[in-house]
Amino acid sequence: MARPFYLTTPIYYVNDVPHIGHAYTTIVVDALSRWHRLLGDDVFFLTGTDEHGLKIVRAAEANGVSPLEQADRTSERFKQAWRQLDIRYDDFIRTTEPRHAAAVGALLQAIYDNGHIELDSYEGLYCVACEAYYLESDLVDGLCPVHRRPVEVFKEENYFFRLSRFQRPLLEWLDAHPEAIRPEAKRNEALGLIRGGLSDISISRTSISWGVPVPWDEGHVFYVWYDALVNYATAIGYGDDPERFERWWPAVHHVIGKDILRFHCVYWPAMLLAAGLAPPFRIQVHGYLLVSGEKMSKTAFNHIAPADLVADFGVDGTRYHFLRDIPLGADGDFSYEGMVARFNADLANNLGNLVSRVATVVGKKCGGTGPAPASDSPLAAVAADAYRDAADAWERMATHEALDATWRLVREANAHLEANEPWKAEPGPAVDAVLGSTLEVLRIIAVMASPAIPVACAELWRRLGLDGRPDEQRLPEAARWGGYPGGLPVDKGPPLFPRLQPA
Ligand code: ME8
Ligand code: MG
Repeated sequence: MARPFYLTTPIYYVNDVPHIGHAYTTIVVDALSRWHRLLGDDVFFLTGTDEHGLKIVRAAEANGVSPLEQADRTSERFKQAWRQLDIRYDDFIRTTEPRHAAAVGALLQAIYDNGHIELDSYEGLYCVACEAYYLESDLVDGLCPVHRRPVEVFKEENYFFRLSRFQRPLLEWLDAHPEAIRPEAKRNEALGLIRGGLSDISISRTSISWGVPVPWDEGHVFYVWYDALVNYATAIGYGDDPERFERWWPAVHHVIGKDILRFHCVYWPAMLLAAGLAPPFRIQVHGYLLVSGEKMSKTAFNHIAPADLVADFGVDGTRYHFLRDIPLGADGDFSYEGMVARFNADLANNLGNLVSRVATVVGKKCGGTGPAPASDSPLAAVAADAYRDAADAWERMATHEALDATWRLVREANAHLEANEPWKAEPGPAVDAVLGSTLEVLRIIAVMASPAIPVACAELWRRLGLDGRPDEQRLPEAARWGGYPGGLPVDKGPPLFPRLQPA
């Protein structure tokens, strides 16, 4: 039976429209899910929007609409952005859906019934942009450490989750599952938070009604974060379809930015343990996209819309940049110049040129019909190595390494053409062997690169005269040398990636 592989992005706030920080995480998860589909895994890819809480209420007020209208409009904008980027999610969850209120009620009720939630009163410093309380000592110059904005004093009677009881269970979990949080530095950060001591956390509000009601006390709604985290359980049928839930849980891979590490690596696993469930299999934490050294965010007004990049670089150029240029985990400075350079080097020059050169020479020397590859081509071993390294990197979610390994094969195929100069030679078996082997490389590339650049790979597959689509192929079989049969018409077509003018 296929391996269940459940992948999630964070669910994004609907106070404002998506920017490329959101696009970054979503592209990474989309590419991972496409790779795992190629492997034949049973993939479930979830994304969605986080629609409750004060931040949304205030945005709605500012826009003169109801919170639900604000959420309706903005979640539509996220879906539109994901269509523009060719994101293929299996489900898009909105936390205002009835299925979600039911799952949140059921999961928090289980924690309550297990005795880990109690009523208490609370006064604290609150950052609305974070939707989080801070201690005096967390503040930087008296301001929120994330948004550098003033915090507000809030006082309410709240339900508290007894997080303090979970220090030892969390440490035991991380000890037994050393790979649960990656990369290592982020695991150490989570360990530091847990070892540093855990205070109980306030999980309900009476000051606001825009949230999921607390099932055992009508005067309260859950604080937005404890409603939001449960989305990962809602979407796979928690509290509704136990068989479905058990198929996917805990085989989950949460991909998140480092801004929400504490919630995913400490609070969420503790909530699951408190409800009698297993913590997530993996939490993969990535860094920030920076614009001139600052975190891009809705609150900082330095955001760039995904559609702007798609207009300049296309779907594939945009996706390729994020996957290739930012090692998952590190911060990455967004630069337009860097994107143009990457596009021209890897897509226009390396891959695009390889495609058009081969098609041109096949037209001239072989009447437009592609010859079969040579079984003893030196490129066969290069392809095998590239596949091995790329597969290993995808498994580690190291997308930049996976694409680097894949492009090694592109570069070697270009070098092979240059060394043999089939355009100068007389038609015959030697020329056929070189061209057929290069076409075989292109077939393999069309499959291996399809998680990153799906549009160009589908077009390349068509130009090679192959049946079906690259994303319907199965790895590792499809990467094995000799799959291109020869005897198919090769369509030259216009440049796959027209060169961009440097900015
Ligand atoms: O935190 N660089 O939503 P959010 C990299 N609703 N990634 C970025 C980024 C940047 N500059 N800006 C945003 C929330 N992201 C909660 C999550 S989950 C149960 C609830 C990405 O709209 C990154 O994945 O603020 C980050 O973790 C997420 O968007 C935060 O999105
Ligand atoms: Mg945020």
